[in-house]
Amino acid sequence: MRVVDIIAKKRDGLALTPEEIRWFTSRYTAGEIPDYQAAAWLMAVWFRGMTREETAELTLAMAHSGDIMDLSDSLDYAVDKHSSGGVGDKTSLIVLPLVVACGVPVAKMSGRGLGFTGGTLDKLESIAGYNVNLTEEQFRQQVREHHIVLCGQTGELAPADGKLYALRDVTATVSSIPLIAGSIMSKKIAAGANGIVLDVKTGSGAFMSTLEDARTLAQTMVDIGVDAGKDMVALISDMNQPLGCAVGNALEVKEAIEALNGGGPEDLREHCLVVAAYMLRLAGRGKKWVDMDETRALLASKLDNGEALAVFRRLVEVQGGDVSMVDNPNKLPAATIVETLTAEKSGYAAEVRADKVAQAALILGAGREQKGDPVDLAVGVLVHLNVGDKVQSGQALFTIHGNDAEQVAEARAVLQQAITIQPEPAEPLPLFYEVIQGN
Ligand code: URA
Repeated sequence: MRVVDIIAKKRDGLALTPEEIRWFTSRYTAGEIPDYQAAAWLMAVWFRGMTREETAELTLAMAHSGDIMDLSDSLDYAVDKHSSGGVGDKTSLIVLPLVVACGVPVAKMSGRGLGFTGGTLDKLESIAGYNVNLTEEQFRQQVREHHIVLCGQTGELAPADGKLYALRDVTATVSSIPLIAGSIMSKKIAAGANGIVLDVKTGSGAFMSTLEDARTLAQTMVDIGVDAGKDMVALISDMNQPLGCAVGNALEVKEAIEALNGGGPEDLREHCLVVAAYMLRLAGRGKKWVDMDETRALLASKLDNGEALAVFRRLVEVQGGDVSMVDNPNKLPAATIVETLTAEKSGYAAEVRADKVAQAALILGAGREQKGDPVDLAVGVLVHLNVGDKVQSGQALFTIHGNDAEQVAEARAVLQQAITIQPEPAEPLPLFYEVIQGN
């Protein structure tokens, strides 16, 4: 086989054979294909797309490029979740303890993430001492003993994806549905999940800005999972406005603790109940947790009676974190400058743009533009309204938490563009648009 022929075939819109995809992926991972050829191939895929078979083959080739976790000695059924990433998305911090509080162990590996705020690992590191780096043995032992793990990748999972993703990032080829689907699913398959709930976001603050693209991405990932023998559910959820109020690492941990304590913003609570209910449904395998209303009520009781919070506290404790920060979230890192931005007129909120809130959080230092950049855990934005809310002139719209006056001023200017207030009532946005079920 010759790389140039594989590039030309894709350039001309032809489907590659499984052998060609496997050969290309393994040679590239081994460093035997130079970046310039892989970049040309990625751009050809970006323009020409991939068939279902090609996408599945690429996913499996990337999944099998490194370790494949087998968790069957530690878990009867490994249920996992993945969010395609959103503004104010702290759901893993709430959903995992919730599911575990219902008797289903969960061991999850998360990432740091690029962009507006850190990923789950950065959020967890707002808790002093929390160790996100576990060995595979520690990971297995912790799930057996404590039934919950939330850490970074152990071992070498899907190294082909790591290499290809870095190249996509610098060649404008991230935004390709088969490449995104393959990238996400290769890591999930390598991490040993039996059942996966995908939370695919759509809207101004999401990778997929239109519902149609989000649906195609969700269906592509469900198909890949089903072809690989996994139980799959994909939820398509709104990301036109931020989820919950808090955007920024420690602020989000604080809000997650409120939600785990039965409080917090209603949209966040409801979102987490739905994601957790689908995780239980997969774990119940048709024998338990089939009725969604009953499952939702059970999960809500775990938030209201403190059981979910107790599981979160246990997670923090076993991973070396300072539990006094869970007991008293005011001890979490806090910013030195706190300012509010108020409404200049009365009316109804027609837009609370997630992308603008994200941009403001990034300006404040809550996220990273480049891999390895430091993150300021204390800073971020609190969003005090949702689309559809009535607004009174002078009411607080946002609270800005920053550590640098210039950044705060810049973030304020961006936040001013995040809100549209109109005289006539505006429809609230749905939390979810669709559910796509596999198996
Ligand atoms: N997240 C991933 O893991 N991969 C992508 O390609 C996009 C988002």
